[in-house]
Amino acid sequence: MRNHSPLLSDSAHVAEVLELACAEAVRFLEGVETRPANNDWTASVAHQLPVHGLGAQATFERFRQTFSAGVTGSAGPRYFGFVTGGNTPAAIMGDWLTAAYDQNACDTSSAVAAQIEAEAIEMLRTLFGLPAVFAGRFVSGATMSNFVGLAIGRQWWGERLGVDIARSGIFGLPQLVVLSGAPHSSIYKSLSMLGLGRDNLTPVATLPGREAVDIQALEAALVALAGRPCIVVANAGVVNTVDFDDIAAVAVLKRKYDFYLHVDAAFGGFAACSPGYQHLLAGWEEADSITVDAHKWLNVPYDSAMQFTRCVDLQLKVFQNSGAAYLGTPNSADAFHLTPETSRRLRALPAWFTLMAYGADGYRQIVESNCACAALLGERIAASTGFELLAPVRMNVVTFTLREPASAVRG
Ligand SMILES: Cc1ncc(COP(=O)(O)O)c(C=O)c1O
Repeated sequence: MRNHSPLLSDSAHVAEVLELACAEAVRFLEGVETRPANNDWTASVAHQLPVHGLGAQATFERFRQTFSAGVTGSAGPRYFGFVTGGNTPAAIMGDWLTAAYDQNACDTSSAVAAQIEAEAIEMLRTLFGLPAVFAGRFVSGATMSNFVGLAIGRQWWGERLGVDIARSGIFGLPQLVVLSGAPHSSIYKSLSMLGLGRDNLTPVATLPGREAVDIQALEAALVALAGRPCIVVANAGVVNTVDFDDIAAVAVLKRKYDFYLHVDAAFGGFAACSPGYQHLLAGWEEADSITVDAHKWLNVPYDSAMQFTRCVDLQLKVFQNSGAAYLGTPNSADAFHLTPETSRRLRALPAWFTLMAYGADGYRQIVESNCACAALLGERIAASTGFELLAPVRMNVVTFTLREPASAVRG
């Protein structure tokens, strides 16, 4: 038996190990502005598990030789692909400590984890101007947040029919109608995961030339249901053109018709940070559940998002970890009774760090400067001969195409 244990040795030299990672992180972040946002790199990899480990330092070298050239600058300012986010320095600090502390943020037995999450959620609720009736939790992304919101909606719908779906499932029930104008693909994915069927979303017409739902068409769809309860997904920042549904008008309909309202505000929720944009969210406080991503405009590392709801009682019915004596009686204080996961990373900590470090004013500036850059790019594109804007620049997304192949080559 070998008496040299890489694990024991690394554990005895943890400072050196982490300093290597720190130096590499600093090197990366200092160069991210010039690093290509994407590349066509592929690794030449051996796919071999070492029998005797290399130890952290040699592993770091192996990583550098094998993979580090492929790391893209997608978190940097030259990335114009999806709506993503970067990292604030304080968020990285919080994320590193999340790894080092390795708290299981699953229940209140880790009192500090539970309190950090509660405080981060409270700061976010305040940042978004949502009423205190909303409770929130961290999940891994907007897809999971949409999943949670729709799962609560499914439970709400079941109760309208006198069925506890969390207990007895959806078997034998009529089709649950889900109405939406221009939902994100993750809504369809969530319907699939929830056993509701991705083909069962009923698309509602959007306004001419827009991706915002046509309120009259939505009302017509609700009238056609003749009192049957349903779910409406309102979109607050469609990913292609950042169009917003008129949520205030949807909220007016909610008083007349029986539906559960979920708002997907994955990145559009950050409109609330700026007096110039917050009108876009008017009425979202009437929602039953809301999705907001954290790894987008909050600029924390992947993977992180918030789900907010005013229906915690229903959420508890869906997500409770019941039947395991060691997990206690289901209650709304313990995260593992409210979220898809049981064990959970303390995602709240990077959020807490960045919110504390930069505050409401910092986030107003992030949103406004990001939108100002997008507006400038939009103006340049509109003025160019080669490109054509396909939608007004509403916030942070610029949608454009080549004007014509011939003029584009010259332009
Ligand atoms: C409106 C909207 N909803 C949901 C998502 C899914 O987000 P995630 O990748 O965090 O799951 C996105 C991602 O771009 C989005 O723009």
